[in-house]
Amino acid sequence: MAIHYREETADDLRAIHQVNTAAFGLPAEGNLVDLLRNDGLAVVSYVAVSNHALVGHILFSELPIETKQTTIPAVALAPMAVLPQFQRQGIGTELVRRGLDICRERGQQVVIVLGHPAYYPRFGFSSELAKRISSPFSDEAFMALELVAGVLDNVQGQVTYPPPFFSV
Ligand SMILES: CC(C)(COP(=O)(O)OP(=O)(O)OC[C@H]1O[C@@H](n2cnc3c(N)ncnc32)[C@H](O)[C@@H]1OP(=O)(O)O)[C@@H](O)C(=O)NCCC(=O)NCCS
Repeated sequence: MAIHYREETADDLRAIHQVNTAAFGLPAEGNLVDLLRNDGLAVVSYVAVSNHALVGHILFSELPIETKQTTIPAVALAPMAVLPQFQRQGIGTELVRRGLDICRERGQQVVIVLGHPAYYPRFGFSSELAKRISSPFSDEAFMALELVAGVLDNVQGQVTYPPPFFSV
């Protein structure tokens, strides 16, 4: 089955909410996507389409890393969702890979995820890399990936998740 990948358009918003709700079994993540988009924080919103129907989605939104000296352009990967009947066919992997490439093209230097430690390291995410970034989350699920090699070397920083993450 051919899957096409592209950025979201205005016609996709309802279907994106539905894919998230179907994948997570509740509307919170779809609501999060809507809130982040409405607040102008979405950097990349990418979809997977099969036979004209949306089957997968991933969102990257602004989450800059503040240090004493500077601000490192960074994004949060959240949420990502693939319809249950389309899972385990590589669609999620493709959404992550393509999304990371676009984030890099748009000048982002780091991606942060709060996700399953068994899934995200395959893309290069590491909890070790995120250790010196302070956030409300600081266990092995809190991971970072450098889009620019070495950008987190010796960095002591902080991220502040925007309100939508706490209101869904
Ligand atoms: C996570 C998700 C997007 C992956 O999409 P997918 O298209 O099935 O992913 P792929 O086919 O590229 O990769 C499948 C791999 O992901 C792993 N995987 C899927 N969900 C996982 C989870 N919650 N924890 C750990 N591993 C997971 C599978 O074990 C499989 O690993 P394998 O290749 O070693 O067997 C999809 O399973 C989903 O929508 N899950 C529900 C929503 C969710 O939990 N989203 C992630 C948190 S934001």
